[in-house]
Amino acid sequence: MKKTILSGMRPTGRLHIGHYVGALENWVSLQGDYQNYHLVADLHVLTTTTTTTSIDAHTLEMVMDWIAAGIDPEKSPMFRQSQIKEHSELFLIFSMLITKARLERNPTLKEQVRDLEIDNMIYGHLGYPVLQAADILLYKGNLVPVGEDQLSHIEITREIARKFNQEFGPVFPEPEPKLTKFSRLPGLDGKAKMSKSLGNTIYLSDKPEDIAASLKKAVTDTSKIRKNDPGHPEVCTVFTYHQKFNPAETESIAADCRTGILGCVDCKKRCSAAISDFFAPVRERRAPYEANPGLVREILAEGETKARKVAAETMHQVHDAMKIG
Ligand code: TRP
Repeated sequence: MKKTILSGMRPTGRLHIGHYVGALENWVSLQGDYQNYHLVADLHVLTTTTTTTSIDAHTLEMVMDWIAAGIDPEKSPMFRQSQIKEHSELFLIFSMLITKARLERNPTLKEQVRDLEIDNMIYGHLGYPVLQAADILLYKGNLVPVGEDQLSHIEITREIARKFNQEFGPVFPEPEPKLTKFSRLPGLDGKAKMSKSLGNTIYLSDKPEDIAASLKKAVTDTSKIRKNDPGHPEVCTVFTYHQKFNPAETESIAADCRTGILGCVDCKKRCSAAISDFFAPVRERRAPYEANPGLVREILAEGETKARKVAAETMHQVHDAMKIG
């Protein structure tokens, strides 16, 4: 039997090419060899805000990008956590299997507290990884594709699975993280990470002219001031994009930048053309869903029907093991 992959994202709206490189590309490539489930973590949004008005629109945009990237709804169910009640029930049961001290030691939580300047944490935020454990284990996920920042959550998931199995009997696998190789794309401003809140992104849904305009603003090697100054590709953001999206020309671009034959304006034009070409099939797949978002709702409804079946079966086993019900 195929192993199961459970992947998830909080609905933050349109996805950018950093998400593609860091996650989606990996999800798509794993599609044939594994049974994939893709979860919209819409309840997780509530850990940091009570503003719920944008969740629905953000979910549609994000799932559109998943499909556009190549996730096949026939093979890989896509669904909202909030629509499968079993997530909430398993979250509650798991809350009894982990200590407050263990959750307070979570480095990802500490980082969030620092970045978002949280001085009075809500109860559910502390339990963020417990809900994530329920997300993964309801589908008996064996592998979870994640970035570095999520490793601590997978570790907590493994501890909870182990604890449940010890206390009640063997129901859950101990899932393993699957890190992406090329997991970080720098932002247009040269910052280490592309991120919506930093405003340094190229969206998957951007048109070629948007991409060209964004690239014009991109930060390059700051010591290359005039066109024919010799440059240093290894410190240039645009060159990182060439490496990923324009591999055939990478070597000659590096050489011509170093000697000064190639100026940044030309180099950026070639880069935006390469990025546009790379994502042309993605834009093409996205188009019918943009025109008719109802199609995305249908895909979610189908995914939720499939997910609900699996989740109900797992909860059945949980109840049996716990001798309740
Ligand atoms: N915590 C994940 C993130 O912020 C999102 C998420 C929620 C998730 N549930 C999941 C990821 C289950 C993988 C599996 O990226």
